[in-house]
Amino acid sequence: KELVFSGMQPTGNLHLGNYLGAMIRWIELQKTMECIYCVVDMHAITVWQDPADLKRQIREVTAAYLAAGLDPKKSIIFNQSQVQQHAELAWVFNCVARIGWMNRMTQFKEKAGKDRENASLGLYAYPSLMAADILAYRATHVPVGEDQKQHVELTRDIAQKFNNDYAASIAANGYGDAFFPLTEPMIQGPATRVMSLRDGSKKMSKSDPSDYSRINLTDDADTIAQKVRKAKTDPEPLPSEVDGLKGRPEAENLVSIYAALTGTTAEDVLREHGGSQFSGFKAALVDVAVTKLAPIAGEMRRLMADPGHIDAILVDGSDRARVIAAQTMDAVRDIVGFVRSR
Ligand code: TYM
Repeated sequence: KELVFSGMQPTGNLHLGNYLGAMIRWIELQKTMECIYCVVDMHAITVWQDPADLKRQIREVTAAYLAAGLDPKKSIIFNQSQVQQHAELAWVFNCVARIGWMNRMTQFKEKAGKDRENASLGLYAYPSLMAADILAYRATHVPVGEDQKQHVELTRDIAQKFNNDYAASIAANGYGDAFFPLTEPMIQGPATRVMSLRDGSKKMSKSDPSDYSRINLTDDADTIAQKVRKAKTDPEPLPSEVDGLKGRPEAENLVSIYAALTGTTAEDVLREHGGSQFSGFKAALVDVAVTKLAPIAGEMRRLMADPGHIDAILVDGSDRARVIAAQTMDAVRDIVGFVRSR
């Protein structure tokens, strides 16, 4: 059975990269597939989070999901910590995954920085919890941005090793010859890697100290306009062919953002804007960005005024998620060989 799972960390401002790289696809997918979307609060605490800020950010990410168009009647929307099976399955996966696999994770290297000895053990084991998120639902498809590809591939490695190591027990328990699916990453659309507006060689990220490097989902129309106008560019006009964007990372980024916001392709954008100066193109980009994003910010503000409503959606989502995850975890306990006490 096909099932979509994805998630975001509630660690600071959601931005245009999160929206175009992931959320915009999530909204499409919920029209045709069964989807589960998670606010991964347990991943958030792999680096220190102030408890009051964390609470607010969990609600804010949920509000962003809803404001962007996720429908809690269609999709399951919940926060990770409320479904205990994620942590439990992650422990089993800690015992399946190899230390060498974790050592290859580029996100850990980036996040841990130079002082790796001082990073939390949770940050190191992060991909194992992510595999548990996905496989607790035996999800087959994971829509994410380019930067999460390695983690989804690791999830496949964990699933495969679990299926192999426990093959006899999986069969003996009546689950055939594979218990976990080999999950596919879905990395699609023109903006799978949105770059910083200040530096076309850096990813747009929550942690960039310059707020001008990103467009936050909470930015109002004036702020969006200002950030687009100040975005770094080169002096040449836009090319009319995609090939002409090679070696021009800032131009390529703005064209990709425009394409993703309008549901078109870079080819389409250059057909219309090829030969334009950046001043003109940026004015057009401000228009599409404000049209698409300002209503989301407005809706987020409205939703945040009623945290009780957001919490009710998370409670309902966790209840629905728990039913599925509990079935998986019961099976995993049997497969691994734990004796049941009830
Ligand atoms: P996170 O919270 O860093 O990012 C959430 C989603 O946004 C995408 N993204 C981007 N896409 C394009 N350009 C960018 N500049 C950009 N920045 C972020 C990410 O690829 C992601 O899809 N480990 C995950 C959270 C997670 C998860 C999961 C995802 C935990 N468990 C299970 C999928 C399935 C993370 O840190 O995403």
